[in-house]
Amino acid sequence: MRGTKTISVTSGKGGVGKSTIIANLALQLSEMDQKVLILDGDIGMANMDIMFGSRAPFNIIDVLNEKKSLDEIIHPINPRIDLISGGSGITDFYKMSTFQKRSLLDIIEQIQYKYDYLLVDTAPGLNEHVFYLNAAVDQAILVLTPEPASFTDAYALLKVMYNNFHLKRITILCNQVRDYQEGIHLFHKFADVVDQFLNVGLNLIGVIPHDQNMRKLNFQQRLVVNQNPDSCVAEAFRGISFNLLDDSLIPNTSQGLKLFWSQLVGLA
Ligand SMILES: Nc1ncnc2c1ncn2[C@@H]1O[C@H](COP(=O)(O)OP(=O)(O)O)[C@@H](O)[C@H]1O
Ligand SMILES: [Mg+2]
Repeated sequence: MRGTKTISVTSGKGGVGKSTIIANLALQLSEMDQKVLILDGDIGMANMDIMFGSRAPFNIIDVLNEKKSLDEIIHPINPRIDLISGGSGITDFYKMSTFQKRSLLDIIEQIQYKYDYLLVDTAPGLNEHVFYLNAAVDQAILVLTPEPASFTDAYALLKVMYNNFHLKRITILCNQVRDYQEGIHLFHKFADVVDQFLNVGLNLIGVIPHDQNMRKLNFQQRLVVNQNPDSCVAEAFRGISFNLLDDSLIPNTSQGLKLFWSQLVGLA
């Protein structure tokens, strides 16, 4: 049986569209008959549930405090999407006792075959827990936008991932660009800098154009792949989902959910 493919969506700078991307990809993948678990790891800003217009009542802190079990904090979004809210729990993983870590892994063992994908939303910036989340997944997706700060901050994040976590490859997604050409240009500009200084393989998974309706949809807690399926943005999300499903594009290093968590809690 194919394991759960673990994917993070990350960035150097906030506001580039990570949560929007995760929510829409999850929805698109679920429409392609895939089962998706989302881990909201954007500490302090945990807002993935709101993207779907619902509210997750519990989060990982409740598991760490032994108030809830992991399966009790799994919040269903639709029949094929579940969500785990991180709260500020992601950083606290390292403070767990070995016994707590082992029991967490036992629960993961039970749920791991339920999902085709684990999508991890990360906080922006150079935070230790962001590095660990990105290091623990099969595939990290780094979001770039045409904003200069997004470019330099993405490079800073990649540099740490390369130097301290021996990251060998990363997937690039260009968001909020004028058109496809601008996205390709942005990717090549980034690849040129990376090729000069870091030995990291890059691949481009897709380009999402800027669409002024997105902000309004976000405000209304609606998602573009549902609301405007004929838009260029929805089309882009479909393309990216197909690329994710096509393992030949990105080497399938899928190691599953249990390895993800054991790396995260430091037991691997
Ligand atoms: N392709 C896009 N076109 C226009 N606006 C976008 C696009 N992607 C994201 N946004 C908007 O940018 C803002 C930040 O997005 P969000 O997903 O919250 O970013 P992050 O999670 O990286 O902080 C939101 O208002 C969102 O609607
Ligand atoms: Mg976010």
